[in-house]
This record gives sequence, structure tokens and C-alpha cells, in this order.
Amino acid sequence: MTKVLFVGREGSQEPRVSASPDTVKRFTALGFSVRVEEGAGIASGIPDAEFVAAGATIASSGDVQSADIIIKLARPTPTEHASYRPGSVVIAIMDPYGNEAALSEMAKAGLTSFAIDLMPRITRAQSMDALSSQANLAGYRAVVDASHAFGRAMPMMMTAAGTVPAAKVFVMGAGVSGLQAIATARRLGAVVTATDVRPAAKEQVASLGAKFIAVEDDEFRAAETTAGYAKPMSQAYQVKQAALVADHIAKQDIVITTALIPGRPAPRLVSRAMLATMKPGSIAVDLAVERGGNIEGSQPGETTTVEGVTVIGYVNVAGRIAASASALYARNVFAFLETMVERNTKQFVIDPEDELIKATMLTHSGKVVHPSFATIVNATPPNSEERI
Ligand code: NAI
Repeated sequence: MTKVLFVGREGSQEPRVSASPDTVKRFTALGFSVRVEEGAGIASGIPDAEFVAAGATIASSGDVQSADIIIKLARPTPTEHASYRPGSVVIAIMDPYGNEAALSEMAKAGLTSFAIDLMPRITRAQSMDALSSQANLAGYRAVVDASHAFGRAMPMMMTAAGTVPAAKVFVMGAGVSGLQAIATARRLGAVVTATDVRPAAKEQVASLGAKFIAVEDDEFRAAETTAGYAKPMSQAYQVKQAALVADHIAKQDIVITTALIPGRPAPRLVSRAMLATMKPGSIAVDLAVERGGNIEGSQPGETTTVEGVTVIGYVNVAGRIAASASALYARNVFAFLETMVERNTKQFVIDPEDELIKATMLTHSGKVVHPSFATIVNATPPNSEERI
């Protein structure tokens, strides 16, 4: 039977959309009936007419009741999912860590929910890796935002009136967003240095033409998990790292921080004292601000001045480049859903044994089923979500 796929409109703070005309065409070819909530693509530069031309019909928010599958950017709020049909499938960036009460609400609503942000980093799932696609664009945008706020040029310029020096950019955290920040700053002509705690980052930084700076001790050599993420570093390592950074940061014009550890607060890497050593007019961009921040004094959603340094704390930085971010996110969601459609019969089947399903399914049949959250949530007595 034809499955109804509903593309939800996001809240006012989220300009991205979870489908594109390209993915609407692909979903339709797979046998889905696609309904796009009115105006869902406007902030990403996609008018309703383009979705219609690709094969979708335009729907009101109330039409979500007829949906079998709902795709979104942000986890649905209880008000939003109150109108979803029990048993419907929801795919979004669920941001599950620390939000166990919200997972419990989705379970109670009978939703089969998937966190695309828990997609395993394996070759088969690369095209579904929404964290990477969005982090990549955020890294690019962080450099654009920094250069916009910076009162000097990024490249060295030799003119008849004299020479303007190249900006010095320091990128802290050389994962997906950090590596793109390095590449972008290099393209703009800056002199770039970078740091990370994972040894694998060293070669990647060098291959982009930037200099790698780090405390390379035994702890550094063991800092990468099998999943490719960083481990939290010891107090002793943090002290050594801070000394190295303090010395280096004083000579920088722009610092861009991207350091994260999954499921934990962001490591604090730049102190007020370090900012105070930077030249007047320096810029710091904290891409980790939503997770507590890498920079002391950074504020979510605000640009502040801390010790004379402009500290940029934009949230949802990928949303600041919404048209590109939506196009990539839409492809990530399509690639994931495509794995649930049987090739020959075109039946939509969720295989609980599939490693992608195991890694991303949060709730099903009234329960939180994901091993990382099930014990916390299901062990909690009824009506006590506030104590989770
Ligand atoms: P992330 O967003 O969790 O963290 C960003 C960066 O911060 C990481 O490179 C991490 O090592 C670094 N970091 C953490 N604590 C730090 C500290 N105290 N000081 C300095 N840096 C610190 O990580 P992201 O960007 O999502 O990915 C990390 C790595 O995962 C990638 O570089 C890659 O090796 C791997 N990956 C693999 C993929 C695959 O499909 N095989 C896809 C995407 C990433």
C-alpha cells in the first residue's frame, strides 16, 4: 500500500527543511505519496510550487494525521506530535542526550522514532550522516562569519599603498567542521594552524596546508574511540593543552572552536585570560556554544565582547546557510529511508536486525528501545520525568 510521507514545517528558529524537490522526485519514484506542509521550504529558498512540480502535494499541519512517515529537522515537540498518528514513523535530528524525558513522551505517543544523528560512522551509512553534512557547512560558515566581523583582510595583499598581512586563524577541533573551517580559511588566504586530541587529525590538518599543534603524549595517542570520536581528556592533559594554547593564541587574529565529545558538555578550551592576550579586533567563533561552549564567556545566539575579543556564538550555524544545508540533509534522510524500502516489492519494512535501525531507533511500540536510553527512561516510575 502507498505510504504517505509528510514533510513537516519547522519552528520559527529553524530555516532548514527536510526534503528538496530532488528527494521528493526520488521518494515518489520509490512509491511514496509525498505531502509537504505549506511553506515548509520558503526559508530555504524552495517555494511550494517547486515541491508540487517534483510530485508532492501541499498539505496543512492537520494533514499530518494521515502520515505514515514524518520527516523533520528538529525533534517534534509534544504539541507537534500530539497530532501524529500512533504507530507513525518520525525521522529527525533528535538530540537525545540529556533529553530522555522527551524520548519518553515520544514513546508514550506510540511513535517509532529514529535519531538520524545517531547514524553509525560506517562506509554504508556515509550518505546518511547528517551530523557530517551539517557540520561541514557550519565549518565553512564559521569562517565566513568570522571574516565578516573581522576589520582586516584575510589574505596578504601587496598594494602600491603598502602590504596588508595575512590573517592568522587557529582552528581548535579538527573534525568535520574544523577541517572545513581550515579549508575555507586557507582558500581565503589566511595562515592557518589547528589542534585536536585525536592523532588521526594530524595528517588531515597537514593535507589541507595548515600546521598542526598539539600535546602529543601517550594520552593523545589513545584519544580516539573506535567510533572515530574523541574521548574526554584527563585533567593533567588539559593543563598541558591549556599551556600550549595560551602561548599560541596570543599571536592569532581569529580562533574558531569546534571541539565536541558525544553525549558530554563541550570541553572548555579558551579561557578569559587567553582571550585577554589577543590583539584588539580579534575574533573568536564558538561552534560548540550549544553544548556549553569551548570559549569562556560565549553566549548561545549572541555576539559578545569578552576581554576585547568579539566572541560569536551563533546557534544552528548550518541553518545560516539553509539552502545548501537543506539540500544535503534531504539527501541524508532519503538515503536512510531508501534502505527501508524493499527493492522488488517496494514494501516499506523496518528490519530490527539492520545495524542502522539498531543504532538509530529510539522509540517503538510505546517504549524507549535504544540501549543508550532505555534503561534510564524505562526504569523511571510514571509521572516522574522531571527527575530523569
Ligand atoms: P565532533 O563534532 O564530535 O568533534 C569535533 C572535533 O573536536 C573532533 O575532531 C574531536 O576530536 C575534537 N575534540 C574533542 N575534544 C577536544 C579537545 N579537548 N581538544 C581539541 N579537540 C577536541 O566530531 P566530528 O567532527 O563529528 O567527527 C570526528 C571524526 O569522526 C572525523 O574527523 C572522522 O575521523 C570521523 N568521521 C568518520 C566518518 C565516516 O563515515 N567514517 C564520517 C564523519 C566523521
